[in-house]
Amino acid sequence: MAETGHDSIRAVEWTDQGLKLLDQRVLPLRQEHVLLEDAAGVADAIRDMVVRGAPAIGVAAAYGVVLAAHDRYARSPATWKQDIEEDLQRLAESRPTAVNLFWAIAHMRGHMARVQGDPTSALLAEALRIHEEDIAANRRMGELGAGLITRQCSVLTHCNTGSLATGGYGTALGVIRAAYGAGKIDRVYADETRPWLQGARLTAWELVQEQIPVTLLVEGAAAHLMKQGGVRWVIVGADRIAANGDTANKIGTYQLAVAARYHGVKFMVVAPTSTVDMAIAGGNEIRIENRSPDEVLNLAAQRIAAMGAEAWNPSFDVTPAELIDAIVTEKGVVTAPTVEKMAAMMGRTPQPALGG
Ligand code: MRU
Repeated sequence: MAETGHDSIRAVEWTDQGLKLLDQRVLPLRQEHVLLEDAAGVADAIRDMVVRGAPAIGVAAAYGVVLAAHDRYARSPATWKQDIEEDLQRLAESRPTAVNLFWAIAHMRGHMARVQGDPTSALLAEALRIHEEDIAANRRMGELGAGLITRQCSVLTHCNTGSLATGGYGTALGVIRAAYGAGKIDRVYADETRPWLQGARLTAWELVQEQIPVTLLVEGAAAHLMKQGGVRWVIVGADRIAANGDTANKIGTYQLAVAARYHGVKFMVVAPTSTVDMAIAGGNEIRIENRSPDEVLNLAAQRIAAMGAEAWNPSFDVTPAELIDAIVTEKGVVTAPTVEKMAAMMGRTPQPALGG
């Protein structure tokens, strides 16, 4: 991989041996890698959170398609294009909310249709291109998002949206990197982000490595921080953005947006256009992943909840567009998002609402 500058972490890497993933379940205590040689292994790694974050899931899935195509073609050159559908299905079933997964699979499927002969090198070139384009999009969003921050302030972020969650550099964390570099941010407050602790384990780790001042808080402290005037912006990523700007992101994002509006704090969503799902009119159509109650009842493989208690574990929530001040993509900034503004940014004509 080329020189990364201020961004040396790579969660997803293609090697001659296969797909190398930095195991995000054990960070920051251990830096271990997992090497995957088939698509089933990639699907399992996405489901089990070895790799997570919408853009990183999409990039990993694209490489998963390369592994599947290589394998299926070797086994049956005449029928590999039909046979591979089973692998694509398995990849698609790994996690339901991040649309980048489905975007990457659809993109690779479109490319497969045009391939003649052994597909490995053509599909690998396409997956590498998706990976590089994600990093380039993040750098562009970093510049655009930093441009919205007009004076030096502290900001609050949620979950992990950095190099670990993307092809590299990060979405919301990319804006934070760029704005910190421009002297516009003096401190980052990071929600610890129960139950997987992406904020405490991953965001804090990335920011410490960048020497960007970071203060952790439990998400229950966020409204109190805003009330004290501690932050001017909340900056988050997204797993899926509907055509009207409604945004699904890590559970807890919605309550941040409600508290931010109440306290006059600005709310910025940063995501590449591969996270925008123009086929979905509004947020209530977004499928929200429910994960195992065990993730709430236990901490670090240790039972912490009272025996007999049940747990509810939605992994994402939806923030309505009206609570979002700006959506930043690599194609531009949409302030106070509406159907029309989102369509213009995506270069589309807005679709009439069903029944209306
Ligand atoms: O469950 P995760 O860790 O995959 O959730 C990640 C998030 O919610 C991120 O905020 C989102 O994917 C954007 S990452 C650039």
